[in-house]
Amino acid sequence: MDHRFSEPSFPGIQAQNLLDWYDRHARALPWRVSPKARARGVQPDPYRVWLSEVMLQQTTVAAVKAYYEAFTQKWPDVIALAEAGEEDVMKAWAGLGYYSRARNLKACADTIARDYGGLFPDTENDLKALPGIGPYTASAIAAIAFDRPATVVDGNVERVISRIHALETPLPQAKPEIRALTAAVTPQDRPGDFAQAMMDLGATLCSPKRPACSLCPWTEPCRARALGTAETFPRKAVKAAKPTRRGMAFVAVREDRAVLLRRRPPKGLLGGMSEPPTSVLAEDAATDDLSLAPLDLDWRRLMAPVRHTFTHFHLEMTVWRADVPSTTPAPDGHWWSPADALNGEALPTVMKKAVTAGLSGA
Ligand code: ADE
Repeated sequence: MDHRFSEPSFPGIQAQNLLDWYDRHARALPWRVSPKARARGVQPDPYRVWLSEVMLQQTTVAAVKAYYEAFTQKWPDVIALAEAGEEDVMKAWAGLGYYSRARNLKACADTIARDYGGLFPDTENDLKALPGIGPYTASAIAAIAFDRPATVVDGNVERVISRIHALETPLPQAKPEIRALTAAVTPQDRPGDFAQAMMDLGATLCSPKRPACSLCPWTEPCRARALGTAETFPRKAVKAAKPTRRGMAFVAVREDRAVLLRRRPPKGLLGGMSEPPTSVLAEDAATDDLSLAPLDLDWRRLMAPVRHTFTHFHLEMTVWRADVPSTTPAPDGHWWSPADALNGEALPTVMKKAVTAGLSGA
């Protein structure tokens, strides 16, 4: 190992200073056991820690709260989730994105119910072997739920650590170095609170823009602060531009405003989720080829396409609408979704946008 990483600690960067700050300023989050309660011996529920961590990889704390409440109301423990239908889980996940995560969530619950009697394993290694639990999630659950001194590194932690050390190595190249530096400061005492404190610091004071350095418990040892350049870290490699995929969405609307839907194939983009029929979605796909429509109808192209950005590409779909009589049968593998059932369908955000655009008809 690089000798710089094997030093026992970095002078001035004391875990205790961060823990003291966390004791006063920890965010109250629905899935969190507060540091006060933790000190009284209240144990976090691994199921809730796992669920929140998987959701938090998708979106912000603010957006996760409603999904977390809905999931824990419907399925209060891992056995309940294992007994749920996959389709219901996909519906509850709709809008969070990255739908293979929802399928893995269900597969993970099934495995824990079947192989572990409903009890989460309590080591990073055993956790990592479960469906959908990668190195980050395994470390977060081991630390937060079981108070193991795992090294937990998310985007917030990358920012905090790269600033404290004024790391010039750009991301993603800097990841191993950041991991080692995080491991070096992770304490044996209260590692779970420490992991959450790092994330809270990154999410509040050590923010991407205009960090509040004067309030930070680590302002003294922070090298970027001393240089006056905190906001410029972490350094990032220039990213390749995202390509744009194109395609067509066909919104057939019945007189009673029911909309024709179908399920996407289980594998691939938005796998297993619902959609109005679409054409192939690809960089060189047609946007005006009506032979791709599911029914031979009087399709009308709407003015504005719908757009959505995924991790690796932009998607732009032209939306086509056709009005049909109430007696129109749904083709094989399709169904009519009544207007008041649309919100409960497993429609990913981009497909919801297409249906909304199609229904508004503009
Ligand atoms: N972001 C992801 N996981 C988190 C956690 N456990 N606490 C605060 N922010 C987080």
